[in-house]
Amino acid sequence: MKERARHVSDPLRLGIAGLGTVGGGVVKILQRQAALLKLRTGRAIVISAVSARSRGKDRGVPLDTYGWEDDPTTLARRADVDVFVELMGGSAGPAKAATEAALEAGKDVVSANKALLALHGPALAEQAEDADAVLRFEAAVAGGIPVIKTLAEGLAGNGITRVMGVMNGTCNYILTRMEATGQNYDALFRECDRLGYLEADPTLDVGGIDAGHKLALLASIAFGTRVDFGTVTLQGIQSITLQDIHRAGDMGYRIKLLGVARMTDQGLEQRMTPCLVPAASPIGQLEGGTNMVVLEGDSVEQIVLRGPGAGAGPTASAVMADICDIARGVRLPAFGQPAATLRAAPPAPAPSPAPYYLRMSLRDKPGALAKVATVLGANGISIDRMRQYGHASQDAPVLIVTHGTARPLLDAALAALPATGVVKGEPVALRIEDA
Ligand code: NAP
Ligand code: HSE
Repeated sequence: MKERARHVSDPLRLGIAGLGTVGGGVVKILQRQAALLKLRTGRAIVISAVSARSRGKDRGVPLDTYGWEDDPTTLARRADVDVFVELMGGSAGPAKAATEAALEAGKDVVSANKALLALHGPALAEQAEDADAVLRFEAAVAGGIPVIKTLAEGLAGNGITRVMGVMNGTCNYILTRMEATGQNYDALFRECDRLGYLEADPTLDVGGIDAGHKLALLASIAFGTRVDFGTVTLQGIQSITLQDIHRAGDMGYRIKLLGVARMTDQGLEQRMTPCLVPAASPIGQLEGGTNMVVLEGDSVEQIVLRGPGAGAGPTASAVMADICDIARGVRLPAFGQPAATLRAAPPAPAPSPAPYYLRMSLRDKPGALAKVATVLGANGISIDRMRQYGHASQDAPVLIVTHGTARPLLDAALAALPATGVVKGEPVALRIEDA
């Protein structure tokens, strides 16, 4: 973290690779706010050159005064580039090669690339520090919400106890629109496609992978651990039905694709899974494509950050925050502490105990409910609430909310239920998070 000898009044020269949604947004801010940025950072921030796949494409912004490179790696190495701004995306290929080339050349790097950082963050952070360069990625987590700055700087005096949040706007849009409109998952997925909300590979969104990348990055900063995306428990929203949403609502909950990271005695717990949260909680009230991150520290208690998690303006706003820090001479380590001090935390073998919501269909015959209750009891699971819905058919819809339960006990009970002969199909089991 050595202070660099820089001519802090010289213009800061950027090389921007990627002129799509985010890159175009960054160029617009730099053009529109040039005077303000100079006042705030004490120096001009200028674009030396840009790169994208197609030189001829109309980007809605004038680019003719900037240099052009077909190859982002060549851009990263240009002598007139101080900061390489990587806004192409992808966890490998040109984004990784160009980022490594920039760091190798001692350039500072600003990236919005959550996939790249989640898979290669520790190595890139080490490379940056070895080169006395800075690597920043505010835009990679929760778009316009300054969550990394809040965690690494604003809460630097806290032992972080839990990081939790809704970090994929597409999933929250689908789940809340299902509830509001009564349309099913497939219809809302198609709507997101039409609106341009989906990642190029939509499994990244609905499979929880994109949000899992973001959670892994936050967990590293929160707990001083090496980013470990491979041990994030992932479950997407594809199997959430309208029925689940409505039944959960009846019990006072809403379903969210919720990320939770906490350090336990058993190890680091990282989960990105559909969970029930109290409908009246801040996360429970989150609508549409908005993101929310809840940070809990031993001194501050709880901070709730809410804002747009995607889109040109919000994401470019976060990219600009990193660029402005570099322009001001702020040189923080990528993950809030020197990369070599980030420890490899063992993953927690199971999630911490929690209440669970169980939905199942029972054959409507005497003793059916008692058989289910017996299996739960035999596995040490205590029932908090239960509801059976009126039904015309021979299948009775039943909801059960358990008391706090260890997941392995629940798994054992779920495995034992088919042998009762009264449960139809696969029960749905969703964790209820204390949000
Ligand atoms: P995008 O609209 O698809 O833009 C990607 C840009 O990268 C395009 O300009 C493309 O060029 C360029 N590009 C792709 N491959 C290239 C290559 N080999 N060489 C040179 N340029 C190349 O993507 P985006 O939405 O702006 O996302 C950019 C990054 O920000 C990603 O890492 C994404 O995960 C992250 N991010 C995005 C959002 C969001 O709301 N969009 C939010 C947070 C983070 P052409 O235009 O010529 O095809
Ligand atoms: N696909 C992401 C989302 C974009 O829906 O939140 C922002 O990372």
